[in-house]
Amino acid sequence: MRTLLLLIISIILTAGLALAVPPGKSLKFSNSPMGTVTFDGKLHKDAGNSCKDCHNKDMFPKMKQGTVKITMNEIYAGKYCGVCHNGQRAFEAKTSCNRCHVKQ
Ligand code: HEC
Ligand code: HEC
Ligand code: HEC
Repeated sequence: MRTLLLLIISIILTAGLALAVPPGKSLKFSNSPMGTVTFDGKLHKDAGNSCKDCHNKDMFPKMKQGTVKITMNEIYAGKYCGVCHNGQRAFEAKTSCNRCHVKQ
């Protein structure tokens, strides 16, 4: 019974990894005049974040790009990327525009 449970859990985990905003996948947000923002899924996973840290009803409820509209006001107010990019869990958005926004 215990092995069966472990097997099921590991199947679920592997399926999750296959879907991850990568391994290997990144999302581009290119609506800002400040330049394109690349969100690297592997980097965020390697930083120790689980899917639920971001994919929950208060942040990015759907695993589909474009279901929330991210604005700087919300980031500065501690929403979306700003839940972490506040100078505590990760570098502060206000002081490092170009770590996210890159002009082509
Ligand atoms: C640090 C935050 C964060 C973590 C951790 C995270 N994601 Fe995401 N993910 C996002 C964001 C942001 C989007 C875009 C959501 C939107 O635009 O509404 C996204 C989108 C996705 C998409 C859709 C990609 C596309 O091309 O539309 C999938 C699939 C996904 N995530 C799976 C996962 C899985 C599986 C995990 C855990 C292994 C995970 N994510 C962990 C932030 C994260
Ligand atoms: C759950 C917490 C969390 C969320 C949410 C999150 N990040 Fe991060 N992010 C991190 C951590 C941790 C790092 C690595 C540590 C650091 O660089 O401060 C990081 C690093 C980055 C980097 C790398 C910068 C560099 O110079 O190496 C970029 C770019 C980035 N995040 C963009 C985003 C964007 C865009 C969003 C929203 C779509 C987002 N992050 C949401 C935690 C998060
Ligand atoms: C943690 C990553 C991150 C950092 C740091 C960051 N931004 Fe953004 N910014 C985003 C994301 C994601 C979007 C949404 C882009 C999209 O929808 O295509 C955005 C959108 C914008 C927009 C258009 C929407 C709006 O709110 O007006 C502007 C302008 C902007 N950023 C300016 C800045 C400036 C100026 C700084 C530094 C003071 C900065 N950003 C720092 C991630 C970041």
